[in-house]
Amino acid sequence: MPVSVVIGSQWGDEGKGKIVDLISQDIDIVARYQGGANAGHTICWGDETFVLHLVPSGIFQPNVQCVIGNGVVIDPVAMVEEINMIKDLGYNVEGRLFISHNAHLIMPYHKRIEEARERWRDAGAIGTTGRGIGPAYVDKFARTGVRVVDLLDRDILRKKLMSSLEEKNAILENVYGAEKIDVEAMIEEYVEFDKLIDPYVKDTTNFLVHALKEGKHVLAEGAQGSLLDVDFGTYPFVTSSHPTVGGCCTGLGVPPTSINRVIGIVKAYCTRVGNGPFPTELEGDNGEALRKAGHEFGATTGRPRRCGWLDLVALNYTSMINGFTELAITKLDVLSGLDEIDVCTGYRVNGKSTKRFPSDIRMLSSVEPEYVTLPGWSEDITGVTDWDKLPKNAQDYLSFISEYLDVPAHIVSSGPKREQTIIR
Ligand code: GDP
Ligand code: IMO
Ligand code: MG
Repeated sequence: MPVSVVIGSQWGDEGKGKIVDLISQDIDIVARYQGGANAGHTICWGDETFVLHLVPSGIFQPNVQCVIGNGVVIDPVAMVEEINMIKDLGYNVEGRLFISHNAHLIMPYHKRIEEARERWRDAGAIGTTGRGIGPAYVDKFARTGVRVVDLLDRDILRKKLMSSLEEKNAILENVYGAEKIDVEAMIEEYVEFDKLIDPYVKDTTNFLVHALKEGKHVLAEGAQGSLLDVDFGTYPFVTSSHPTVGGCCTGLGVPPTSINRVIGIVKAYCTRVGNGPFPTELEGDNGEALRKAGHEFGATTGRPRRCGWLDLVALNYTSMINGFTELAITKLDVLSGLDEIDVCTGYRVNGKSTKRFPSDIRMLSSVEPEYVTLPGWSEDITGVTDWDKLPKNAQDYLSFISEYLDVPAHIVSSGPKREQTIIR
C-alpha cells in the first residue's frame, strides 16, 4: 500500500490536524516527519477540542498506529506531557505510538539560545514559537545533537550533555550575555526520561517499510507549511525543517516511489504567524474582521495570526514543489457574509505583471498583488456536508481555486469539527 502525505500549502495553520484526524479513519499508520512542538494541530469532534504538538493527529482513532519519525525534533518534556494528556483522556498509547530512536532532542539550552538569538536579531527577529526548533536542527546538522537513543543510556547521555553544554554555556555567556545552564541539574532531569520514553522507542523506518510491504496504508503528516520550508519558503522567515514533500522521505525513511497521494491543505484565505513578507495581508479593520471570524490565534503560542486574502500565486508555487494530487480546502465557512471576496491571481513587480512567486524576499516584500474580485455569499454554511447544499457563489469560489491550480479539491471543510466536512 502506498503513502499519502498531508502538507500545509501556505504558512501553517491551514487545518492539517482536522484533515489528518478525518482521513485517519481509513488509515493504518499516521507518521509525523518534521518539525517539533512548534506545531499546534487542532482536532475537534462533538464537544471535544484538543491541540496536539508532537503526537500525530491520528491518535484519537483507536485503530491507528502513530509514528514520530527521525526527522522530528522532540522536546522530551513536551512529549511526556502530551502522552499523559492523551492517556488521561482514556486513549491507549503504548503499543500504538512509536518514536524513532534517531530523532533529535530539544534541550533547555536550545530554547535559551533561540531566545537570545531572537533578541540579538532585534528588528530582524523571525518571530519563532520559542520551542528551540532552530537551534536543535543546527546541532543535528553540526553533528553535535543528542538523539532519542542517547536518552536510553545514562552514561552516554551524561557524556554528550557535558561536552555539549561546555560549548553552549560559553556561547550563552560570552556571545549573548545570557544566563548559563546548570549542567548537573539538567543532567539529573533528563536521565529520568529513559524510563518514560523507553516503551515507545523503535526503529520506525524498519517498522514503516515493513508495514508498507504488508499492504498497510501510511499517512504522513506534515507540520508547518510549504512557505515556511527552509529551502523553498520565505527565507529567512521560515522554520528550520522541510514541511514540503521531500521532508517525508528524509524524515521517515520511506522511499519516494511509495508516495502516490499528496494532499495540499489550503485555507480559504491566508494567515501567517511571526514575521516575514505576506503580499495579500489585510491590515486594519478588514484583517481584524477575518481574524475574528476565523478565530485566528496561534494554537501553540496564542499569538494573533496575520490575515489576508487567498494568494494563488503562492499556492501555485507550493503546488508545483509538492506535486499536489488533490486539495483539501478548509475554513470556507469563515468567508460567509462577505459581499465580495478578493483572490490574488498575479503580482505586479517593477510595473510588470507576473504569476511567478519570487524567490528573493526583498522582491516578494515589494510586489503588488493583482486581485480578481468574486461575489460572496450570505448563507451560513457551517457544518454543510453536501456539495449541492453550498451556495452557488461558494461552489464557484472553490472551482476558481481548483481551476487556477489545476488540482481537484476532494475535501472541503465547513467547520472545525471532524463531521463538518464535504467529501467529493
Ligand atoms: P494546523 O496547524 O494546520 O493543524 O491548524 P490549526 O489547528 O493551528 O488551526 C486551524 C484552526 O481552524 C483550528 O482552530 C481548527 O479547529 C480550525 N478549523 C479547521 N478547519 C476549519 C473549518 O473548516 N472551519 C472553521 N471555522 N474552523 C476550522
Ligand atoms: P503548524 O504545524 C504556523 C512559524 C513561526 C515563525 C517561524 C519559525 O501548527 O501549522 P520556529 O519556532 O519553527 O522556528 O518558527 O515559523 N511557525 C508556524 N506558523 N503554524 C505552525 O505550525 C508553525 N510552526 C512554526 O511563527 O514565524
Ligand atoms: Mg497550527
